[in-house]
Amino acid sequence: MNGKISELEEYAKINNIPIIQSDGINFIINEIKKRNIKNILEIGSAIGYSAIRMALAKDDINVVTIERDTIRYNEAINNINNFNLNTRIKVINIDAFDYIDSNKYDLIFIDAAKGQYIKFFEKFKHNLNDNGIIITDNLEFHGMVNNTDKIKNRNTKQLVKKIEKYILFLKDNKDFNTTFYSVGDGISISKKISS
Ligand SMILES: C[S@@+](CC[C@H](N)C(=O)[O-])C[C@H]1O[C@@H](n2cnc3c(N)ncnc32)[C@H](O)[C@@H]1O
Repeated sequence: MNGKISELEEYAKINNIPIIQSDGINFIINEIKKRNIKNILEIGSAIGYSAIRMALAKDDINVVTIERDTIRYNEAINNINNFNLNTRIKVINIDAFDYIDSNKYDLIFIDAAKGQYIKFFEKFKHNLNDNGIIITDNLEFHGMVNNTDKIKNRNTKQLVKKIEKYILFLKDNKDFNTTFYSVGDGISISKKISS
């Protein structure tokens, strides 16, 4: 099984497919076990790497993962089949903003277009169980967050500013308590404040 996981990591590296860093996914897996998480909604599957890692954390985990890119979606389907996880991981080929789901999840993992994090959070917070958590990745974005002065590329600078805006949005959010972890590429865990 480990061999296959490292093959996926290698494939992503060679083909420039952005997957979560090892430290980041290990941290999330730990949270999944600690909090006894069972249902996961992931925004941004890429080739299915993080969905597979999360599903392998425990036998009773089910993952719904959304990917808008058809080529990556097909790769995710193949990889998930290779791990015999097709009964526990459902991949949906759609833009997350067009996706309608009334189910509730213990964990919502936001790992798609970084410039849209606030919109993803606002849309999918309604799918969270009362005790559920929203995890977001890439909040340090390779050390560039809070270091925009040094960024030369205009698009990258704008993207990093959007991530900074998202961090402020989380910090100011009255309905959620968010903790930030300097692990992997920067991860946050947001928990609903019970009313
Ligand atoms: C960082 S990758 C996901 C990596 C994956 N979670 C992993 O760690 O293995 C982000 C993915 O989100 C997809 N994506 C971006 N915006 C999206 C949207 N609005 N709806 C669905 N997928 C989206 C991209 O096509 C890309 O494959």
